[in-house]
Amino acid sequence: MYPDWIDIGLVRDVPFRGSRVVTTGKGDIAVFKAHDGQIFALWDRCPHKGGPLSQGIVIGHSVTCPLHNWVVALDTGEVKGPDKGCARKVALLIEDGRIYMAAAALQWNAA
Ligand code: FES
Repeated sequence: MYPDWIDIGLVRDVPFRGSRVVTTGKGDIAVFKAHDGQIFALWDRCPHKGGPLSQGIVIGHSVTCPLHNWVVALDTGEVKGPDKGCARKVALLIEDGRIYMAAAALQWNAA
């Protein structure tokens, strides 16, 4: 139906203030749902030392990495505060309660 988009599941299956991991051949993608229901996706690797962002704490539209507490903006992947870096963002399409990720994301190397 959408050749450029890959169905990765239902919005309702992602917990509020939490995440769900989508495994791909290029690595894991963390799909987050903020308190207000907005959905975001980042490769599940912290730009600091590769910590699993999917296991971080979601506050507002940010996630705090569980390893060393860097704070990453969910909408851009940019690290906030004095730290520098950027997690790779994955473009999403939300339609009829389903989440689709951009197929082009899999052409990049997440490592
Ligand atoms: S690996 Fe995420 S803050 Fe260090």
